[in-house]
Amino acid sequence: MDSSTIRKQFIEYFEKTLGHTVVPSASVIPLNDPTLLFTNAGMNPFKPYFLGELEPPFRRVVNSQKCIRVSGKHNDLEAVGRDHYHHTFFEMLGSWSFGDYYKKEAILWAWKLFTEVWKIDPRRLYATVYTDDSEALKIWKSIPDIEPEQILIFGEKDNFWSMGDIGPCGPCSEIHYYRGDKLEDRDAAKVNADDPDYQELWNLVFIQYNRDEKGELHPLKNKHIDTGAGFERIVAALNGMDSNYDTDLFRPLIDQIEALSDIAYDKGEEGMAHRVIADHIRMLTIAISDGAIPGNEGRSYVLRRILRRAARFGRKLNLKEPFLYRLVPTVAHILGDVYPEIVVQREHVQRILRAEEESFGNTLDKGLELFEQLAKKAKKTGESVLNSEDVFRLYDTFGFPVDLTRLLAEEKGLAIREKEIDDLMEQQRQRARAAGKFKMRSAEELQWIILRPGVPSVFAGYDTYSISAQPVKYAADENYTYLVVDKTPFYAESGGQTGDKGHIVFTDPGTGKMDYGRVLDAQKIGNDIVHIIEGRIFDTHPADSGPLILEVNESTRRDTARNHSATHLLHAALRKMLGDHVHQSGSYVGPDRLRFDFTHYEKVSPQQQREIQQLVNLEILKNLPVETEEKHYIEAVSGGAQALFGEKYGDIVRVVKMGDVSMELCGGTHVGRTGDIGPFFIVGESSVASGIRRIEAVTGTAGLDMMQAQQTLLADIRDMLRTPEARLKERVSALGADMKVLEKENAELKAKLLSSDISGFFEGSGSYRNAPLYVNRVEVENIDQLKNLGDRVREKMKTGVAIFGSVIGGMPQVLCVVSDDLVKEGVKAGNIVKSLGKAIGGGGGGKPHMATAGGKDPVLLEDVLNHIETYLP
Ligand code: ALA
Repeated sequence: MDSSTIRKQFIEYFEKTLGHTVVPSASVIPLNDPTLLFTNAGMNPFKPYFLGELEPPFRRVVNSQKCIRVSGKHNDLEAVGRDHYHHTFFEMLGSWSFGDYYKKEAILWAWKLFTEVWKIDPRRLYATVYTDDSEALKIWKSIPDIEPEQILIFGEKDNFWSMGDIGPCGPCSEIHYYRGDKLEDRDAAKVNADDPDYQELWNLVFIQYNRDEKGELHPLKNKHIDTGAGFERIVAALNGMDSNYDTDLFRPLIDQIEALSDIAYDKGEEGMAHRVIADHIRMLTIAISDGAIPGNEGRSYVLRRILRRAARFGRKLNLKEPFLYRLVPTVAHILGDVYPEIVVQREHVQRILRAEEESFGNTLDKGLELFEQLAKKAKKTGESVLNSEDVFRLYDTFGFPVDLTRLLAEEKGLAIREKEIDDLMEQQRQRARAAGKFKMRSAEELQWIILRPGVPSVFAGYDTYSISAQPVKYAADENYTYLVVDKTPFYAESGGQTGDKGHIVFTDPGTGKMDYGRVLDAQKIGNDIVHIIEGRIFDTHPADSGPLILEVNESTRRDTARNHSATHLLHAALRKMLGDHVHQSGSYVGPDRLRFDFTHYEKVSPQQQREIQQLVNLEILKNLPVETEEKHYIEAVSGGAQALFGEKYGDIVRVVKMGDVSMELCGGTHVGRTGDIGPFFIVGESSVASGIRRIEAVTGTAGLDMMQAQQTLLADIRDMLRTPEARLKERVSALGADMKVLEKENAELKAKLLSSDISGFFEGSGSYRNAPLYVNRVEVENIDQLKNLGDRVREKMKTGVAIFGSVIGGMPQVLCVVSDDLVKEGVKAGNIVKSLGKAIGGGGGGKPHMATAGGKDPVLLEDVLNHIETYLP
């Protein structure tokens, strides 16, 4: 039976016969849930229903959900490719009851689907039950065709399911499947023991608790059902296959990898590379289609790690050119019907992958060579652990994720010191962070004084700037007071929009005297809107001595609203001009300017920028009304609203609409009509990461200021050059030509200077074959200057080897000179530059006394000069 039929049968079983509503898969990127990097189970989007935070629109739901398990509590990465049934990306078939039916139905229906609809031999199935779950045990025992030996009891590790360290959880019952050949040999003791012949197929979770930050369980108001079945495993089981990779979900990928590499797939250990690549390309395609992007941090870094692992396994199959991107159409072919976003985003995904593969390709080979050397060195000295500085260097200079180095090391029977490497990475992060900025304290760091327990903190400032409020709780440190009130006009930073500034007014109940505190920022901690106020204000005004009036700074708020509304128009304009692959990937909306990051694979040309700017200004001139409305998420998205990735089905969302031009889900503050935005000017366009561009712009008064400043500037330049505006361009290009002549003269002078004093190049020597070794980085204009320098140094150098590195026209170059006595002893500059040239991504050669080499990557030059001993022959 093909996989599409199986998926369809599961959905229809719950939909048609059991009254469940079918909902589409959520994105794999849960932006609204800071506890998760990727959607890891079908239940994630329903978290607010389980916790009772929201009323579900349906009581019974079914779907197939895209899941990724490579980080956090649920991480299967290490098993991928080694076995045949764990994946970084998989589909979870799921059914849910939100406070409707419970254990009995969940168990009996699952059993019926397996044994009656899909006709799995009941003797192949095992049911597991949580230690003290006598209710579930009884239900299982009531089923006639399951024998008592097939019902097994397990503890917390196997039969208590949690989404993460915090959140909804509960005991569960799992159905395991014996897939071996000899029924009579099956052995209940092998269930839950990592035996590939005994696989968990379906997990039925009885959600009844919420686990808090301290790990404590709190019973939920209602009891819920959350089931999840591993789709790929079921497809293999129903087809009598012993590997997920044999199913139609993977086989076309394996076939294509065979064709690209010309290496046949092997079901044993030899086939691991095929399997890892087939697995990883599915994960990458799905994640990028949902708007993720490879990069240096968090989720993005997970993608980069996965891609680099896949690329390295490609090398094992002699795939040296970028190849992953070529597999994307196959993934789209396999899964595109069910997840149409893969088809829509196919080209975008290919571009991103190809760019990443290309950029890593260069350093991958170099890094692999270095790794070989390091491994050899370790073996020679009898070490079983790699030097941590070297592992860090592989990460820092060659872009090797640590888990990739660990994998390479394991293959050679070597280990790495995780903790030491973590420390090195942390040190580097600290150095990077040293610049520092005002950091919101985390909730745990503050000692809250609670005045009104349980009172929620509500934002009520869409239409007003001033509200009289009651304090709910507060805290203070040396410099600031942190205050939460019942309702506030202050918008707390979120969705890219900065927190409001303003002030808070107290009235002394005794004297009636008024006083002020400055609100510097408003931030969210959990569901609380926290006002950060200058000074320890409640030392002099008891917090609860009278009403507090909270007032937002109106002009800052208006400026921010202009920028926020302009961001929506910009988003719409970008999609119109560049295409539907444009998705928001980040934004900053402050009073001063706006910044919008979006998925796009190439520079937005100046001409396109002007067109986009024009389009936005035309929409502003139409003075369209800006309307907001609250809706259920599903309703909003099916009405065509642009959703950020990661809203949950349950959310009541706010839809912001500007005429027919833009409709987005957004909680931010906006202008009343687009005309209020005033002028809109793009002030910058840049790249953030491969496949992500950034546009910065100003509006309103900042736009006017910019125009005025530009006019003044133009007038000043005109006066300085004493040239009328119409002839300015001509004049500037004439100046440019003069400049060229001067530059040339300057270069000649520099060359002369360089040759006059060379004593500095003999400082701080190392040694090479017992002779002095001088290594210097120099700045020269061209290769002739470098050679000239080499000649002069050689004349002065009694004995030794001198190496110079320089970046000329963006390309790294090295020069080596050897003194005559060493040349006689057989030292050859040509040999030395040969290995240095290789290390900087190129090659070279020359005479025994002097030779040069050129390469491609200036970063590598830095590494070569700093660790010259590693590279010398
Ligand atoms: N949420 C349960 C799981 O992921 C069904 O196993």
